[in-house]
Amino acid sequence: MMQLLGNPASPYVRKVRVVLEETGQADEVERIDVATSPIKSAPEVTAAHATKKIPALIRPDGCTLYDSRVITRFLDARAGGTLYRENRVWEVLTLEATGDGILDAAVLMVYESRCRPEDKQDHGWVDAQWGKIDNALSALEARWMSHLSGPLDAGQIAVGCALGYLDFRHPGREWRKGHGALDDWFAVFSQRAAMTATAPTD
Ligand code: BEZ
Repeated sequence: MMQLLGNPASPYVRKVRVVLEETGQADEVERIDVATSPIKSAPEVTAAHATKKIPALIRPDGCTLYDSRVITRFLDARAGGTLYRENRVWEVLTLEATGDGILDAAVLMVYESRCRPEDKQDHGWVDAQWGKIDNALSALEARWMSHLSGPLDAGQIAVGCALGYLDFRHPGREWRKGHGALDDWFAVFSQRAAMTATAPTD
């Protein structure tokens, strides 16, 4: 059986779990949750992922896969799914990169406060990360709302997990302010069974 190395707080792992749910493969993967951090990796993570990150998908009949985008594409192909439709693949991949870019900035903000002593934290740098997120939210509203409202794909899943992570770790930043269309979209998307089943926990 395949094994997914992960953690219930990780938004990258959540993307994989949402794809497992949406493609009907959740029972085909054993979830192994590990406590890991950028400073101190769990030994299982060090062994499975070259740069010591989660998620990693350990397969009995092939190489271990990472990162989350490789895993989600593999799982969709394995299921004969439609999350990376060929006729829109460049749009899907760009939307997915936008969701992941929001996540990268949001996670770096968390690490800055969690992994560095208070007097070494750079608040200007943290605010600049939020500036990237705010710009991405505006870009989504300006250019992607029609795509977001179309048939389910991996780009939508990445954006949904990114917005869920902003609620989880950065509620004080109030991302909904000035982004009403995304707020409306996420109010519906976040009610999907795959999203409620994978809500992040510490
Ligand atoms: C978090 O606790 O926010 C987190 C955990 C794993 C990966 C990224 C973020």
